[in-house]
Amino acid sequence: MEERDLVALFNSLSLDEKIGQLVQLSGDFFLESDGALAVGPDEQLGISPDLYKIAGSVLNVVGKDKMLQIQRENIVNSEHPIPLLFMADIIYGYRTVFPIPLALGCSWDLSLVQQAYQILANEARNDGVNVTFSPMVDLVRDARWGRCLESTGEDPLLNSKFAKAMVTGIQQEDENGNLKGIVSCVKHFAAYGAAESGKEYNTVDMSNRELRQNYLPAYKAAIDAGCRMVMSSFNSFNGIPATANKYLMKQILREEFEFNGVVISDFAAVQELVKHGVAEDERSASKLAIDATTDIDMKSPCYANSLKDLLNKAEIEEQQVDNAVWRVLKLKNELGLFETDYRQANNSSSDLNLPDSSRNIARKMATESVVLLKNSNNLLPLKSNKDKILLVGPYADSKDLIGLWAVHADKNDCITIHEGMSEYSDLNHLKSVTGCGFVDDIKKLRNFGNSDIANSFAVDEVDELDEVMKLASSSDVVIFAVGEHELQSGEAGSRTDIRIPEKQRRLMKKVAKLHKKMVLISLSGRPIALTKESQYIDAILQAWYPGIEGGHAIADIIFGKENPSGRLSVSMPRSVGQEPLYYNTMNTGRPDEGQKTRFLSRYTDCDRGALYPFGFGLSYSEVCYKDLKVEDTQNHEIHISVKIKNLSERAVNETVQLYLRDMVGQVTRPIKELRDFKKINLMAHESKQVNFEIVKDQLVYYDYNEKLVPMKGELQIMVGKNSEDYSTQTIYI
Ligand code: GLC
Repeated sequence: MEERDLVALFNSLSLDEKIGQLVQLSGDFFLESDGALAVGPDEQLGISPDLYKIAGSVLNVVGKDKMLQIQRENIVNSEHPIPLLFMADIIYGYRTVFPIPLALGCSWDLSLVQQAYQILANEARNDGVNVTFSPMVDLVRDARWGRCLESTGEDPLLNSKFAKAMVTGIQQEDENGNLKGIVSCVKHFAAYGAAESGKEYNTVDMSNRELRQNYLPAYKAAIDAGCRMVMSSFNSFNGIPATANKYLMKQILREEFEFNGVVISDFAAVQELVKHGVAEDERSASKLAIDATTDIDMKSPCYANSLKDLLNKAEIEEQQVDNAVWRVLKLKNELGLFETDYRQANNSSSDLNLPDSSRNIARKMATESVVLLKNSNNLLPLKSNKDKILLVGPYADSKDLIGLWAVHADKNDCITIHEGMSEYSDLNHLKSVTGCGFVDDIKKLRNFGNSDIANSFAVDEVDELDEVMKLASSSDVVIFAVGEHELQSGEAGSRTDIRIPEKQRRLMKKVAKLHKKMVLISLSGRPIALTKESQYIDAILQAWYPGIEGGHAIADIIFGKENPSGRLSVSMPRSVGQEPLYYNTMNTGRPDEGQKTRFLSRYTDCDRGALYPFGFGLSYSEVCYKDLKVEDTQNHEIHISVKIKNLSERAVNETVQLYLRDMVGQVTRPIKELRDFKKINLMAHESKQVNFEIVKDQLVYYDYNEKLVPMKGELQIMVGKNSEDYSTQTIYI
């Protein structure tokens, strides 16, 4: 629609119609049957049933038929037909479900992730979805938090690069900036990943400097990449919940980031301002939120029941409402909704086939996301037609490889690990048995999540220890496919014990008594403490939740068709007691450098650092680095080069990582920070020179007063395989 026509439509709206555009409800308010997914508190939130007549957007309706039905009724029954916006949580795949974002972060493959998110957006758009609440770019440092699952990790630079790749893949803007994909809504603004003690929805309190240095860059990257919507987060930030926090929402987001798109609250977050204790009632909550320029009130009665009264009593200005409504209408227009009434779904989600091209990207994504953490005596890759293999564990033949936020997926599309391995090994060489269920305390988990997830608890009635011991005795290698149940991570999935669940650890210890070669495939939505397992298991693969092609990808790595290349985007802890744990820490006044004295910054009961550090990952090849050269060109750049050689017979993908340390600053500075990386392919025995360039003007950091200041003096430049294995040189700038 031409802007003048949009203005005319805007001016024709009644106040009720305007306010309706700022209200988002779930599909069950529009449909007789249960048309939506319960993804938040499931009480009716005091929303009057007739509110649906004026609402401007709908969340998490599943399937184009239902969306078409709702849209048609909306258009037919409105005096001024304004198409609804259909929004959904499509975090890492619609029908083609890729690995969880924490796994994608370990691929360090920006272009492949962008391709994956194009597929995500196209499948969703074809099914009638207009907006996805993705990417989630919250920086995570605490593995106790269940939503590590949705983040690409603990580094601001890596998260920023993935944020850009995901937004670009989702929105697919053409050279004129026109939207060809769907709208990307970056979340959760801001710093939700810093929830105190990793407890879900908990308080966030940090210096504004820390916020700017580490937590904001990825949101900024998403906005700079053109994302057209931002979601405010549940958490309070320095005492004020984000949804009502003017420092975050107005000063930083609207003014500094110059974001003039739509801000939507998280689920009922406006109403929850009352629970936070910053609003005495829903009317006050509405004022706080609209004053902070939160445009859409997701799934709460606040705006619908209070904005009119606030206006009538001049406690808010009409311009505030008009600004919000205009941003919503403008977004609908950018999506072309008025021309086509709404996005025509040209095929139903139910018969949306999964082309091999999509599956192949999912398989490649999963292969690149799995991280080989240990491989004693080069046990892997196995020989499929020689080794007698027992595959055991609740994930051995499970389709639950897609994690908790793949709400539009069909689990039947998932290739299990057993299925994947069976394509390599015949029945004489590969046996599979569940062995045991996921957890001992099954009833605690059963209450969360929709019904079909609970079905996977059927496995928990299984106790096949005798069978396992018998089969293991006649095997050469035992492969454990174990890990946390998908309900133990994701939203509201915080844990105080971040090890593999005890029930499964008991089984593994019993099998270990047989002294067979053992492989651990760890499946989880968070970094897991694998300390004990690392002491007796020969090879360890961290596979996260690898998506619908997980079984193929894991088998491709186990049998050597693929050379593992994943590199950790999060630190793997020795113990939950170390959390929050991250690589770019400060030095402190008493750094632990192995001195023989008590008085150091460390624990008395745990070795220092991560069990497996940020950037770490093994492959089946030996790659050597040499001839690091660092040249300060005495004008604007620093040139860095290093030679890399593949010493093995097989091709390998190597992620060359560049870190730097600003030795002295106006505030304490990290002992290292990722500055750049390059993922390169090396054929057998191939050498390459890898070059980096650092632009000096970009060597800045936030000082005590939140101002960007230049780094000065001694800089340590580190280039290597990961954050703990590198060559280093020093320069002065
Ligand atoms: C949830 C999540 C958010 C999601 C929203 C809509 O509670 O916090 O990430 O997009 O509600 O489902």
